[in-house]
Amino acid sequence: MKVISRRDGTVAVLAVANPPVNALSIRAGVIDALRTAVDAAIEDGDVAAIVIAGEGRMFSAGADIADFDSPPATLDRFRDLLLRIEHSPKPVVMAIHAVALGGALELALSGHYRIATEDSRLGLPEVTLGVLPGGGGTQRLPRLAGFARAIPMMVGGGPVSAREALEIGLVDAVVDGDPVAGALAFIAGRSPLPPRPTGALPVPPGGAEAVAAARARLKPGALNQAPAKIVDCAEQVFTTDFASGLAFEAAGFSTLAATEGSKGLRHAFFGERKVAQIPGLPRETAPLPIDRVGIVGGGLMGTGIAIAMLNAGLPVTLVEPRAEGRDKAAAKIAVTIGRDAEKGRISRQEADRRITLLTITDAMDAVADADLVIEAVFEEMTVKEGVVRALDRIAKPGAILASNTSMLDLDVIAGFTGRPDHVVGLHFFSPANIMKLLEIVRGRETAPVALATALALARRIGKTGVIAGNCDGFIGNRMFEEYLRQAYFLAEEGALPQQIDAALEAWGMAMGPYRTLDLAGQDVAWSVRKRRAVDQPDRPYSCFLDRLCEQGRFGQKTGAGVYLYADGRTAEIDPEMETLLLAHSAEKGIARRPIGDREIVERCLFAMINEGARIVAEGMAYRPVDADIVYLKGYGFPAERGGPMHYADRIGLPVLLDALRTLSTRRNGWAFEPAPLIVDLAARGDSFETLNG
Ligand code: CAA
Repeated sequence: MKVISRRDGTVAVLAVANPPVNALSIRAGVIDALRTAVDAAIEDGDVAAIVIAGEGRMFSAGADIADFDSPPATLDRFRDLLLRIEHSPKPVVMAIHAVALGGALELALSGHYRIATEDSRLGLPEVTLGVLPGGGGTQRLPRLAGFARAIPMMVGGGPVSAREALEIGLVDAVVDGDPVAGALAFIAGRSPLPPRPTGALPVPPGGAEAVAAARARLKPGALNQAPAKIVDCAEQVFTTDFASGLAFEAAGFSTLAATEGSKGLRHAFFGERKVAQIPGLPRETAPLPIDRVGIVGGGLMGTGIAIAMLNAGLPVTLVEPRAEGRDKAAAKIAVTIGRDAEKGRISRQEADRRITLLTITDAMDAVADADLVIEAVFEEMTVKEGVVRALDRIAKPGAILASNTSMLDLDVIAGFTGRPDHVVGLHFFSPANIMKLLEIVRGRETAPVALATALALARRIGKTGVIAGNCDGFIGNRMFEEYLRQAYFLAEEGALPQQIDAALEAWGMAMGPYRTLDLAGQDVAWSVRKRRAVDQPDRPYSCFLDRLCEQGRFGQKTGAGVYLYADGRTAEIDPEMETLLLAHSAEKGIARRPIGDREIVERCLFAMINEGARIVAEGMAYRPVDADIVYLKGYGFPAERGGPMHYADRIGLPVLLDALRTLSTRRNGWAFEPAPLIVDLAARGDSFETLNG
C-alpha cells in the first residue's frame, strides 16, 4: 500500500508510504495511489479537510529520479495530481517532517497550507540533477515566497530550514513533534479554513529585477543548462498566466532531462550511493562501532585526518614522537577548527568541544583503547613495518588497523600483523579535512565487515568512501598516471602546458593537469616517475618536467613550477617554460606541431578510461561506477560528465575503441592498446553501465 488513508473526525489523513524515502514514484504506483486517495477524500461527503503527510522517516525526497527516463507524458500524471489538489474544494494541509525536497516540496506547494516540524529541510534541489522543478515549483514558489527568495533557492538547490521557510511564507506554521497532529490542530484552530490555491495568488513585485540579477550571475557555456532554464521559467511568472507558465516549465523539464549534463548528474547521484554497496555483503550488515580513533604520525596527513575525525565528533588520540611535531600538529588543529568558529560555521563552544576531544601524546600505548588506529607515518615500508607491528601488539583485539599509504602494498603491511582481516587502507586526499574522497583499500584478507566499517566511517566524517583493490596507485592515481603521461607527451610534441590546461578546463575539469601538479607538488610526481623508470622501463614518460624539478621548481610551494606564483597562489605563464620545452623537443628530435584542443582532451581522457577498464577487469574496482565516483569526488572531474567511465558510455564504446586503435598506431601508441574489456563490451554492444549492477 503506497498511501495509507485514515480518518480523524472529518479530516482525511493521507500518508505516502514508499520506504526508504517516500519517493513520489510513478513506476512504483505512488502517484496513482495518491491520486485515488485524494479523489476519494474530495468526493467523500463526510470529509471536510485533507491532510497529506509522509509515513516513516520523512515527508518525501521528491520525485523518483529513475522516472526521469520515462516518456515525458508520464510526469503529466504527477502534474495532474498537483492541479487536482490545488483545485480541491476542500482545504488541503501538508504535514511536513524531516525532508521535503524537489517534487515533494512541489506537492506541498500545491496544497493550500503547509505545516512543518522544527527539524524539516525544504528545498528544490533539481538543479543538482541538471533539471528544473518540473511539478509547478518554478511557478508556485515565487508566488508564495517572492522572487528574491525563490530564484536563489531554485538556482542554488540548497534547502531552507523550517524557521526560514516560515519567515519567507513557504510554510504557515512550525510545530514540535507529530506533524499530522500539528496539521489537525491548525485546521481545528482556523475553522472554517478556506482553500487557497497557490497558483491563484497574486504575482509579487520584483520579478524583473530578480530575473535580471540571476541572469547576470549565470555562467556562459555551463555544462549544466538547468540554471538558465530555471530563470527563464521564473520570468514566465510575471510575463504570462499560470497555465502557460506551467506548460513552459513542463517543456523545459523534458528538454533538460534529455541533456547529457542531467544524465551525468543523475548517474553521479545513484553512483554515489552504489559505491556504498559491497558485492556479496548483505546491506544490513552492521559496521563495527568506532567510538575512538588513534592516529600515528602528526605530519600533514595525520593532522588533516585528525581534524576530519574531530569535526565529526570522534575522540582522537594522536601519537607523534617529536615534541616539535606535537606542538605543530596541536597548533594546526586548533587554528583550523578555530577558523570555522571565526567564520561562523560553528559556534565557539562547539570549536572548543571539538578541540577537547583531542589527546596528543608521544606514547604509542595511548591508542590501546581505540577502535580504529590509522598509521600516517613516513611512506617507507621499513618505517611502516615498525609502527604496524607495534600497533598490532598495542591495539585491542577487534580494533581495525588502517594504513594511510598511497602507494605501498597493503598485503605486505597486513602481513606485519596477526589480524590481516582487520587491516584496511585508508587513502585520504590532501588536505584530508577538506577533500571529499576516501579510497578504502581492500587487502587480500580484509574482512567485508572491516570494509563496511570503513565505508560507514567515511560517511560519518562527510566523505564518500570508494573501495579499491590493492594495486599500485589504487583506482584514482593509477588512472591519473595515464592521463598525466599523455599531458606530458602532448607538451613535448607541440602543445604548451597552458594550452593543455585550458583545453581540459574548458572541457570541464576543475583544474588542468599542470596546475594540478603545481598544486600537489611537482616533486611528488617526480618521485613517481623515478620509481616507474625502474619498475616499468617499457612504459616511458616524457622527462621534460624532470628538468624543471632539477631546478627546484616544485610548484606553488616553491613559488614556481610549470607556472610562476608571485603571490603563492595565482598561476602566471612563465616564458622560460616555453624555452625549456622547445629545447627539450629539439634535443629529443621531435618536430613540434600544432595540436588541437580536441586531440588534447581525447588523448588525456581516453588513456585514463582505458586504464579504468583494466582496473575494472582486474577486479580492482567493483564496478565502473566506482571509478567514476573516485574521479567526481577526488579529481575535479565535471559532475555533468558523470565520471570517465560514464563519459565513455555516452560517446559509445565502439567509437572509443576506434579512437584507441587509431591512437595506438601513432607515436607512443603502446599507451592506447585497447583494454580487452573495452573490446569485449564493444563487440557485445554493451556498455560499462551494464557492469554497474
Ligand atoms: N528518487 C529515487 N530514489 C531516491 C531518491 C529519489 N528522489 N532519493 C533517494 N533515493 C534512494 C537512494 O538512491 C537510496 O537508494 P539505495 O538505498 O538503493 O541506494 C535510498 O533512496 C536512500 O537514499 P540516501 O542513501 O540518500 O538516504 P539518506 O537518508 O542519506 O538521504 C535524502 C535522504 C536527503 C532524501 C537524499 O536521499 C536525497 O537528497 N535525495 C534526493 C532528493 C532530491 O534530489 N529530490 C529531487 C528529486 S527530482 C524531482 O523531484 C523532480 C521534479 O521536480 C519532478
